[in-house]
Amino acid sequence: MQKFLINGPCRVRGKVSISGSKNASLPILASTLLFNKPIILKNLPRVRDIMTMLNLLKSLGSNVVLSKDRKTVKIYNKKKLKTFASYSLVKTMRGSILVLGALVAKFHKSKTSLPGGCLIGARPVNFHLSALKKLGMNYEIKDGYIIAKSEGPLLGKLIKFPKISVGATENLIIAACLAKGKTILKNCAIEPEIKDLTNFLNSAGANIQWNGRICTIKGVKSLNQTKYSVMSDRIEAGTFCVAAALTKGNLEIKNLNASIIKSELDLLKKVGAKISFYKDRIFVKGPKKIKSIKIINTKEYPGIPTDLQAQLMVLMCKANGKSLITENIFENRFMHVAELQRLGAKINVKNNKAIIEGGNNLKGAELMSSDLRASVALVLAAIVSDGRSIINRIYHLDRGYEKIENKLIKIGVKIKRVNK
Ligand code: EPZ
Repeated sequence: MQKFLINGPCRVRGKVSISGSKNASLPILASTLLFNKPIILKNLPRVRDIMTMLNLLKSLGSNVVLSKDRKTVKIYNKKKLKTFASYSLVKTMRGSILVLGALVAKFHKSKTSLPGGCLIGARPVNFHLSALKKLGMNYEIKDGYIIAKSEGPLLGKLIKFPKISVGATENLIIAACLAKGKTILKNCAIEPEIKDLTNFLNSAGANIQWNGRICTIKGVKSLNQTKYSVMSDRIEAGTFCVAAALTKGNLEIKNLNASIIKSELDLLKKVGAKISFYKDRIFVKGPKKIKSIKIINTKEYPGIPTDLQAQLMVLMCKANGKSLITENIFENRFMHVAELQRLGAKINVKNNKAIIEGGNNLKGAELMSSDLRASVALVLAAIVSDGRSIINRIYHLDRGYEKIENKLIKIGVKIKRVNK
């Protein structure tokens, strides 16, 4: 198993280019199952989850041709695809559940593995299933599989989600594209990645309109061929912005429009960072002293994203004073706390709240990654710790960050990837 060796402390400075968004690419790739015309997708991130999704599409019979640089893919579906999404693939990447809506909408049946939970929570899919049922999908759960079918095309309906869910919103938008009639989805998630999915589908002739958290989809007979470039990864961009604020650094973040991470940048200004931006470039200069933020709440977009919570916790460990982070989206997303404590961080957790005593010196140690975003927080913590840190199980990181060590070395971080 590979690991990272990091020698701290370092200051980050220079320019970093943001890769395509994993969480925009996954629903867009899943939705290609709706098509029987060729699709070209550009700016895909070269990360493991994308390869997993491409393998899943291939296992269903899609013709997938990836460019040499693995950033562009041409997908072409023959008339008839398989409709069995196996546990062996789905268990490695929960986003695979997004093929369910597409398979039932197109082929009126599917046997898709339940994704199962992960370290950050049980991650149920009840909102997906109950909403798809309203469109006419009948299903039973047998041996860990969702065995679904519909009597002919799905039928458009008015649906209100009981709770805001990114994946359920995406699954239903995809399914409703080919349903008969109009579907109105209320209480939708409005993450930028979902708008990217909408823009992709509309570029192929779908009819999807937004009004706040209400999404209206008028079903069409079929989708046209299209060429589309996926948006940049706002969580990767946010991670590098935090790195600059954390290390008294000076970074130019390229390929992302600042408006997409407004809440995050407003928070970094409150800790004392100097932020400016121009078109798709963001400039972040870290403060000499990091001010603590009394209360940080993770929220659905446009609030502070849960995927940046661990990174912000590292920032608060280096801030002067006390801060409180409340994780409102997932029930168990503090696995990074025990690892940060090994570096000397003073953090107390009670249920979904973490109280951080900032201003302590952190000392390098051996650390264990858990989920994707917690792992990158450990990298940030190692960068501001004195001495050597070792970060194990970095395959978690490779799921969602494109060769992060190459980008970090270019901006001054002493990091090396080694095989155990
Ligand atoms: C997406 O997960 C992202 N994954 C997550 O990023 C992200 O953290 C999350 O949205 C929140 O922004 C992808 O886009 C591939 P949800 P998703 O449905 O769709 C509960 C990363 O690191 N819920 O908005 O699974 C759920 O348990 C990943 O890139 C139900 O109870 O998130 C959670 O508590 C991690 N029933 C809350 O809702 C359901 O049917 C929000 O989940 C669905 C969700």
